[in-house]
Amino acid sequence: MSFTGQRYDFRDQAGDYARLAEELAGLLSGESDLVANAANTAALIFDALPDLNWAGFYFLKQGELVVGPFQGKPACVRIALGKGVCGTAAVERKTVVVPDVNAFPGHIACDSASRSEIVVPLITGGELLGVLDIDSPRLARFNDGDARGLQRLAAVFVDSVRRKG
Ligand code: SME
Repeated sequence: MSFTGQRYDFRDQAGDYARLAEELAGLLSGESDLVANAANTAALIFDALPDLNWAGFYFLKQGELVVGPFQGKPACVRIALGKGVCGTAAVERKTVVVPDVNAFPGHIACDSASRSEIVVPLITGGELLGVLDIDSPRLARFNDGDARGLQRLAAVFVDSVRRKG
């Protein structure tokens, strides 16, 4: 077990995301189970990043997004492709940063405390696996550096579940 419980203050945002990516790679090393690795990824992100109220996964199943392991309040179970922030990121296959969820047409409110959100699509071998969704109770919580950092963490997760054994 490589989990160090290291604390991050994100004053050095790029450095802290790099260290967090290393910590995540250690945490997931030797394991490729989708649910296990998604659960530990969500837990690490929720614990390490300040000002979050939800962090977790939606996975593509039979043409719609279905909630996976997460930390935070209970969430909407199914999201159609193209709907909400998650469905938009999934269809566009692009990271979507929403500074104010109330200004995003079609935003799906699962936790009324959420004020801003970032969704990173998970792509493996050209296929959409699902999305990583992070919510904050703070307006404009996520910037381009968070997008880059969370894309890096998402890549570590995707690599871990592609491994055989
Ligand atoms: N807000 C998301 C729905 C999922 S919850 O935030 C956990 C959306 O609009 O897709």
